[in-house]
Parts: sequence; C-alpha cells; structure tokens
Amino acid sequence: MLLDTQDILSERDFRRISDVVHRHCGINLHEGKRELVRARIAKRLRHTGNNNATDYLDSVLADPKGQEFTQLIDCLSTNLTSFFRENGHFQFLSDEFLPELLARKRRAGTNRIRAWSAGCSTGQEPYSLAIELLAGADEGRGWDIRILATDISTHVVRTAELGEYDKTRAESVPPPLRQKYMHATQSNGKTVYHMTPSVRNLVRFAYLNLIEPWPFDGRFDFIFCRNVMIYFDKPTQQTLVNRFWASLEDKGLLFTGHSESLTGVAHKFCYVQPTIYAKQ
Ligand SMILES: C[S@@+](CC[C@H](N)C(=O)[O-])C[C@H]1O[C@@H](n2cnc3c(N)ncnc32)[C@H](O)[C@@H]1O
Repeated sequence: MLLDTQDILSERDFRRISDVVHRHCGINLHEGKRELVRARIAKRLRHTGNNNATDYLDSVLADPKGQEFTQLIDCLSTNLTSFFRENGHFQFLSDEFLPELLARKRRAGTNRIRAWSAGCSTGQEPYSLAIELLAGADEGRGWDIRILATDISTHVVRTAELGEYDKTRAESVPPPLRQKYMHATQSNGKTVYHMTPSVRNLVRFAYLNLIEPWPFDGRFDFIFCRNVMIYFDKPTQQTLVNRFWASLEDKGLLFTGHSESLTGVAHKFCYVQPTIYAKQ
C-alpha cells in the first residue's frame, strides 16, 4: 500500500521519537529534522509492511534491545562520509603532528601509536588515517599502530569491516595512495576497490554508543570525532569532549568537524587551530 508521507507522523509520534533518540544516543532531532524523520519512518514502515506509525512506534519503542529498534536508530543517523574528508586534518597530521609524535615516541622508548575514529561511519575516515600513518611511519615497520573505529550504527560498522568501495567513493583517495593501499577487482562489470591487508590490519571496528560507558581505558594519541557532535546538544557535547580529554595521552589531539566548534563548551583543551585541540 502507498503511504501518504505527509500524514504518517503525528506531533505526538515525532516527540516520542525525538525523546527516545535523544535519550538513547544524544542525537538532537529538533523541529528542523521533522521532514527527515517523516521520510525515514515512512521507509521503515514500507520495509516492515506497517501502515500505521503509532502502532509501529508502540511496538518498537517498547523493546530498545530489539532488532527493529536498532534499524530505527540506523535509519535516523546520518552517515555521510568520504576518504580524506576535510583534507586539512590529514595534511596537519602528515606535515606537523606525526613527525613530532614519532620523535616523541622514540625519545620515550615506545613504539605504541593509538588513534580513535569515533563515529567512523562506513570506514573511510579510519582507513584514511591508516593510510596516513603507514605513509608517514615507514609503512608501520617497527611501530605498533592500532586504530579503533566505532559507530552506533551496526549497519555502517558491517560495511566498514568489508573494506570495499565502489569507484566513485574510491576516487577521493589520491591516485598514488589508491594504487598503493587499495586493489581493484571486477564484479558484475563494476570495479570494486578493496583496502589492502596492510591497511585493514591496523583498524579494529566495533559498535559503540558514545554517550554510554566506554569498554576500554587505554589512552589515545589522537581522536577524530568529526561531524558527529553536530547532531548533539551542548550538554551532551560538553560531557563527550571532557571524556575525550580524559582518554587522550598528554599532548594528544582532538579533531572535530569543520562546522563543529567548541564555543560554548567548557573544556580543558588548548586551541591549536580551528577544529584541532590539544591536551597540554
Ligand atoms: C556524518 S557521519 C561522520 C563520519 C565521519 N566521522 C566523517 O566525518 O566523515 C556521523 C556518524 O556518527 C554516528 N553517530 C551518531 N550518534 C552516535 C553515537 N551516539 N555514538 C556513536 N556514533 C554515533 C552515526 O551513526 C554516523 O555514522
């Protein structure tokens, strides 16, 4: 049956969804997101064969551990990403931070390098970091490099783990790096690019809801949390930024997305340049 998407979502149901989503994962579905919510609920209704949003929400919201609840959260999160997105961050890593970090590690007699892509979506961000680290650290020889990549959407985490991208997505990797760190195969007349084992082996993907407790206590040399906090309100951002601070090594860096500033957020970071913050 065709659904009239204009009528499917009552004011009460919109409030119910935004309250639950805010409580569950910090995402702030404000008034401006109403059309997005309406369109995505319509998609779930079609998929589950429901034609009544109230009944659908009654059953889904009653079971936050259920599969359809996970699907609902997946479909309400925005997963837009690309390789080397906001390239200035990668330039800053290769030109300034990595040489200094490697020298500091050598002086301290350790080869351990840890990074976290928090809100990694379909994997392009952590794989870009892995490429940058291999290229900047002698292909990883002599270094113990690990990148943790986490997201609340189980769907994107599964896609990320595959490490396979179509031609359009792979094209944002600069050609020399693409040749070195991806290999192409043909599948049903289409070119598919696969991350090489050297890149994949550096990255470990996991489901993680950033507003819940984190099941690790190690410290990171740098954290990318880009284009994630933009969906959270200020109190949620403030709590998260302070937890990132506690999870960084001294002199560690936090990178945020280009439209996310820490203005209005109380924190202990030192400003390095727009969207880059240091724990001093
Ligand atoms: C727009 S993508 C950004 C991807 C990547 N960081 C980038 O900048 O290209 C935002 C990601 O944050 C994830 N996300 C939203 N809320 C989250 C939460 N509470 N915990 C973990 N991940 C979350 C979404 O599932 C989505 O994949």
